[in-house]
Amino acid sequence: MFNVAVVGMGWWGKIIVPLIKRSSKLGVSKVVEVNPAGIADFAKQHGVEVVTDFESVLRDSGIDGVVLCTPHTQHTDQIVAAANAGKHVFCEKPLSMTRADVLRAVEAVNRNKVTLAVGHERRFEPPIMELMRVVKSGELGVPLQVEANFNQDKFLSLPADNWRLSGKEAPAGPMTATGIHLLDLSVGIFGEAERAYASVKQLGSQLVNGDTLAILVSFKNGGHALISAILATPFDGRFAVYCNKGWIEVRDKTHPEAPEGWVLTTCLQGGKRTSVEYAPDENVLENL
Ligand SMILES: NC(=O)c1ccc[n+]([C@@H]2O[C@H](COP(=O)([O-])OP(=O)(O)OC[C@H]3O[C@@H](n4cnc5c(N)ncnc54)[C@H](O)[C@@H]3O)[C@@H](O)[C@H]2O)c1
Repeated sequence: MFNVAVVGMGWWGKIIVPLIKRSSKLGVSKVVEVNPAGIADFAKQHGVEVVTDFESVLRDSGIDGVVLCTPHTQHTDQIVAAANAGKHVFCEKPLSMTRADVLRAVEAVNRNKVTLAVGHERRFEPPIMELMRVVKSGELGVPLQVEANFNQDKFLSLPADNWRLSGKEAPAGPMTATGIHLLDLSVGIFGEAERAYASVKQLGSQLVNGDTLAILVSFKNGGHALISAILATPFDGRFAVYCNKGWIEVRDKTHPEAPEGWVLTTCLQGGKRTSVEYAPDENVLENL
């Protein structure tokens, strides 16, 4: 059993703990939360001890790794501290807020010979894995363009001073919340990006940091990604790859926090489109 401490018991930490409890490979008996009021019932229900001091889990020889579900600007320092204490790290996206911080985090994990992983669970969705397999096999020909969106309206009810709405924690509005998953998958298709044009606007909500994001990414090896991420419209999710012999698209039925499955549609040149339904899957746990 690989024992982790989950750090940050907000929305996502509370999704992750019950998943780990169902795992045969991972265990969790301690969680870290700086604001523990209100999580006593959750902790009792899932049999975890709540501590307020991150450093104390780094000193705990019974803990092999940490799962960071904390605000974005804390990630780099927490990765470095965990790595220096010899703990493996699973960090929720975004890994860091700047390239310099990513390099600082990676340097610390390499120097301490620990493993660093990132919360990009969309890579582990079964229809996305099938999409990647089909595109990489070449059966659809040359990949030309990605079209993708990930919209949600969960942040509309947040108080204006919530960390997720600040320009420091979310500098391109919806990018750190949802757009980053689509960029990650697009890099999985095309490799390294060469140029990006992004525009973020506040059009339909009180989210002063922007609620509507459009990005055009151009890749070194060819191809574009057109990424849309909106925080002022109900959930929608789609990832499509257009190639010169056909195209393939994954449509999400629900937000990843409560998966209800997906529809994978493929269309080959000269043929009809065919759709396959995929049942929900615990891809957040598979990523962990
Ligand atoms: N992979 C996904 O699909 C997904 C989905 C949602 C959120 N996330 C990510 O998860 C992370 C957390 O987001 P959230 O929506 O759960 O935020 P949240 O505000 O709901 O939870 C964050 C929690 O961390 C606590 N905290 C802050 N500083 C701390 C510290 N130093 N030590 C311990 N606890 C601390 C806060 O009190 C809060 O309870 C973010 O990186 C976010 O982008 C990922």
